[in-house]
Amino acid sequence: MAERQFERLETLAAHAGEGPVPPTTRPVSMPIYQTSVFAFPDLETVEEVYNGRSPAYLYSRMAHPNARALEEAYAALEGAEDAMATASGMAAIFAVFFSLLSPGDHLICSRELYGGTYSLLAEHLGRWGIATDYVDTTDLGAVEAAIRPETRMIFVEAITNPTVQVADLPALSRLAFRRGLWLVVDNTFATPYLLRPLEHGADLVVISATKFLGGHSDLTGGLVAGSRALIDRIRRCHVVTGATPDPFAAWLCLRGMKTLHLRLERQSQNALALAWFLSRHPWVEAVHYPGLPSHPQSELARRLLPRGAGGILSFAVRGDEEAAGRVIRSLRLASLVPSLGDVTTTVSHPASTSHRTLPPETRAQLGITPNLIRVSVGTEAVEEILADFEAALATLG
Ligand SMILES: Cc1ncc(COP(=O)(O)O)c(C=O)c1O
Repeated sequence: MAERQFERLETLAAHAGEGPVPPTTRPVSMPIYQTSVFAFPDLETVEEVYNGRSPAYLYSRMAHPNARALEEAYAALEGAEDAMATASGMAAIFAVFFSLLSPGDHLICSRELYGGTYSLLAEHLGRWGIATDYVDTTDLGAVEAAIRPETRMIFVEAITNPTVQVADLPALSRLAFRRGLWLVVDNTFATPYLLRPLEHGADLVVISATKFLGGHSDLTGGLVAGSRALIDRIRRCHVVTGATPDPFAAWLCLRGMKTLHLRLERQSQNALALAWFLSRHPWVEAVHYPGLPSHPQSELARRLLPRGAGGILSFAVRGDEEAAGRVIRSLRLASLVPSLGDVTTTVSHPASTSHRTLPPETRAQLGITPNLIRVSVGTEAVEEILADFEAALATLG
């Protein structure tokens, strides 16, 4: 393109300040490409790019450098051929269902499922003729019994929300392979630091980057990772539904991921200490944490999660919803938020937030009772976390 020189204020207002950075040095931190579109030098280049002969960014809904950098980093962490970034975890889950399933298809999901995923399937994809069975995916026989000729996919959360059940991915992937089904794993709670589902035979992994992956409660995002062929197929569909992450969110996520291992290591240690403390407390009825020997899947957790059992635990207080409310109100360090995965310790009340859309009988079967509190353990000093829960539980005595 010819060099451009303008004089009039109106033209300068629109065009001044477009100068390139001299290429002698490079930015250490990835720049934020806050642009919705990229300019071509000429029509010949337009032809080259649209014919796929020259790689280039065109339009940020389709692809942009910050999303691509995030995708490459996440694919590397998951040990995947490729990944695709989305505007939220739900957008990643939707992209997988919408691109791989068709009317008449059937999928099998865990009974214990994030409420948003459940609503997507039960209230929306059902209208498009995609049927779902919700089974206890810790029971392999139940999963196998639910398979029909039109079943295409098994969808599980690697560590479930909020009673932290661990999915037996090696066994599920053997079953999925034998029956010609896709195994899709939501890795939001474990993250690739604790568990890499593709190594255990999953076809795809999805994640809400809003939680531990980003790690600071400052972005909404999601990703899908898997083989290049599957990611290409999902991306073709995703690009036209438009749920691309914006450049700043993608940049924030990439920055957060740089400390993923440090955060998760500390969060797992702190969560184990809090789980032990709670398990001995007279005002605590039950503690769910796969790092405790009393957890029904502690053996599986030791095998699948050798680096630690993660930052999430849940516990039921002795008493009803009012007692849970009193404990939550009395916490000083931990705040009440309908999310998780932050560097600060947070609590939530699943029955009234994340799992309120589940049928009440399913909630009861899963142990998502009104006295259950979920804790996302942060990176703070462990003695101050324990002291906060000790003081809050003392209000019940
Ligand atoms: C396990 C799990 N998967 C998916 C999601 C959805 O992620 P997002 O809120 O980023 O859309 C959540 C949100 O809480 C979740 O807990």
